[in-house]
Amino acid sequence: MRDSYLTHLRCSATNATFEVDRLHGLSPAGRPLVCEYDLASIAGDVDRDAVSRRPRGMWRWRELLPLPASAAPVSLGEGDTPLLDAPRLAAALGVRKLWFKDESLEPTGSFKARGISAAVSMATHLGARGFAIPSAGNAGGALAAYAARAGCTADVFVPADTPIINQREVLLYGGRLHLVDGLIHDCGRMVAEQREALGAFDVSTLKEPYRLEGKKTMGLEICEQLGWRVPDVVVYPTGGGTGLLGVYAAIEQLSALGWLRHARQPRFVVVQATGCAPIVRAFAAGQHEAELFPDAQTCASGLRVPKAVGDRMILEVVRATAGTAIAIDDEVLMLATAQLAATEGICACPEAGACVAAIAALRATGWIGADEEVLTFNTGAGTKYAELLPAS
Ligand SMILES: Cc1ncc(COP(=O)(O)O)c(C=O)c1O
Repeated sequence: MRDSYLTHLRCSATNATFEVDRLHGLSPAGRPLVCEYDLASIAGDVDRDAVSRRPRGMWRWRELLPLPASAAPVSLGEGDTPLLDAPRLAAALGVRKLWFKDESLEPTGSFKARGISAAVSMATHLGARGFAIPSAGNAGGALAAYAARAGCTADVFVPADTPIINQREVLLYGGRLHLVDGLIHDCGRMVAEQREALGAFDVSTLKEPYRLEGKKTMGLEICEQLGWRVPDVVVYPTGGGTGLLGVYAAIEQLSALGWLRHARQPRFVVVQATGCAPIVRAFAAGQHEAELFPDAQTCASGLRVPKAVGDRMILEVVRATAGTAIAIDDEVLMLATAQLAATEGICACPEAGACVAAIAALRATGWIGADEEVLTFNTGAGTKYAELLPAS
């Protein structure tokens, strides 16, 4: 067993390679860097079933994560969330099988824990002592918690109308909260301007290479939980898109290792809100890059990302897998959130409600067939959106 199987970082646009032993932001081309592993050696050294027998948590996928085995991760017990079968809702929507990867059980109540655990672990391993992040809500809370866990500082920049619980959790964990009169891309600009003065490493989505690797573990777990195979369709609530890219990368890597029963990708569906749908728009227009979505508004705060750094990569995955992209109105996604709670007992975030509504819409047009297996995500706990919950 080697200490690390991470060989290098690769620019997602130019394929230029970079060494792994120092902190990196975007590539010199201004594009995300992605991790490359020595998969041939992992295939020789690691037994798939031995990974399944390891103690629970995302760090049991150690060989497919960037942190060397000799370094201790910054962890709060993230990963190994349930894959919930939803038979009553599947019947109501008219699909054969429907699963929810329930990320509401993560530390800090959302899937952001995985990416932040990976990013903070790698950055502190490489010497960082402070972090800054632009956030639509949940990522900021997660960063504040993991920074506290690592004994580091966290500067969290959020739009001033971010859900109140996301603001309070940052303060609770001892983070510094910066309220910004603007949206997440404005927060991102402020992080870039202020990070040096703050002595902070910028952990914006895809502006550093390791959050993606943490999110990848959702895909590794899904394949394992399904008996080392993939569903027909993966429906993903897309803001910055790291989760979607992570699940795709997980399936690519497990296929290359020969750990899957069938080496194929599911069709990936990007779900956004009608009030902020840059990827949906770009997909419909046949573009390779998304334009800034003007006056972005939606109650599904995690989807309020008017311009994603990884737009090209997301569009590539959707097209490469014969997927699609769909936008849902706020009223419709809130009704679907309530339907999910009442039919399956899953208290979901509105972003997950958008996915339920998207499955209904795609089933109605026949894009999803009646005999297909569909997998989607509850990316965060519904209780974090208390102000949106029905009062009667
Ligand atoms: C609950 C929730 N769902 C979905 C998303 C979007 O995730 P991604 O950035 O991976 O597209 C976010 C991001 O803030 C979120 O908080």
